[in-house]
Amino acid sequence: MNFASDNIVGASAPVLQSLVQANDGAMAAYGADEITKRVKARFAEIFERDLSVFLVTTGTAANALALASMVPPWGLCVCHEEAHVIDDECGAPEFFMHGAKLAGLPGAGAKLKAESVAAYVQGLPKAIKQMPPKALSISQVTECGMVYSLDEIAALGQVCRENGLSLHMDGARFANALVSLGCTPAEMTWKRGVDILSFGATKNGCLMGEAIVVFKPELAEALDYRAKRAGQVVSKGRLIAAQFEGYFANDHWYDNARHANRLAGLLSEGFAALPGVRMAWPTQANEVFPIIPAAMDKALRAAGVLYHPWTQVSLPEAERVGTDEALIRLVVSFATKEDDVLRVLEIARAATSRQAAE
Ligand SMILES: Cc1ncc(COP(=O)(O)O)c(C=O)c1O
Repeated sequence: MNFASDNIVGASAPVLQSLVQANDGAMAAYGADEITKRVKARFAEIFERDLSVFLVTTGTAANALALASMVPPWGLCVCHEEAHVIDDECGAPEFFMHGAKLAGLPGAGAKLKAESVAAYVQGLPKAIKQMPPKALSISQVTECGMVYSLDEIAALGQVCRENGLSLHMDGARFANALVSLGCTPAEMTWKRGVDILSFGATKNGCLMGEAIVVFKPELAEALDYRAKRAGQVVSKGRLIAAQFEGYFANDHWYDNARHANRLAGLLSEGFAALPGVRMAWPTQANEVFPIIPAAMDKALRAAGVLYHPWTQVSLPEAERVGTDEALIRLVVSFATKEDDVLRVLEIARAATSRQAAE
């Protein structure tokens, strides 16, 4: 029972079938093939507009290259203090931005509020010694499993426009956020002011398929060169593109995300109903963050349930985790089985009853 992340499973069957089909015969290399062209046209259809797409192999590459296209070496990119770009990418964004810095701001649930971004950006001294803010990066879904509403994205987009910043969305869990909000890809991005998107697909069914989707044309100008210099122009590019054909066909990506979100909801409700358990953040997508008694943590681990302990940085002071509690993260994937979710809840329930009997 592995709930450590949504990348602990392989690829989904339609994605693999699409790859097998794309495997036969000779095709142009480095993304000049027909499949890549078709997939790029499909992105334009899905997002209902002209755009540029660059297919890459990891979310870190997508984020680092997207940020580098927005921020000059002397610039600042604002993000949440717990954002993947600042905490989990080994400095790749700063490396590709050639000296630019990330500035992490606090915010409950790893979410940034438009007012705090505006106050921060406007409070920076306008002096030659100060790196000027050039971009904002937000994660949709956030690192605490929360989903920015359309109004929240629009408010952040407005702050960016008023202050000369470009807006990046780290959509490692883009589909999970989309089905959670029940909106279209266009509504969650460029219609709310997003200029560039890291479109994640690996966690939701691909093998290694991520896309940088650019809505502000000037940000795309050098992205092909940036991608090549980062080793992200794959010679057998059709095999990256083919994953997306399988992913998009018959709304497979929506089905995968709905499955993961539904089971995460089930897991969340199950935990929330147990005595001694409280939720650190509401479950809005496919990640569940219960604060559980230490004894339950021990019982779950002893039964072989895998998950990560989580940080309480984005938890309000009054809700801090006690010494006899553990804040944990369980992630549900497109391939998670309902039986495994029920089994985890059974183990947790049994631990509660044992504790009550002691
Ligand atoms: C919020 C977020 N962004 C980006 C990524 C993508 O990272 P990777 O480089 O491992 O594909 C992840 C994966 O954990 C993530 O959770």
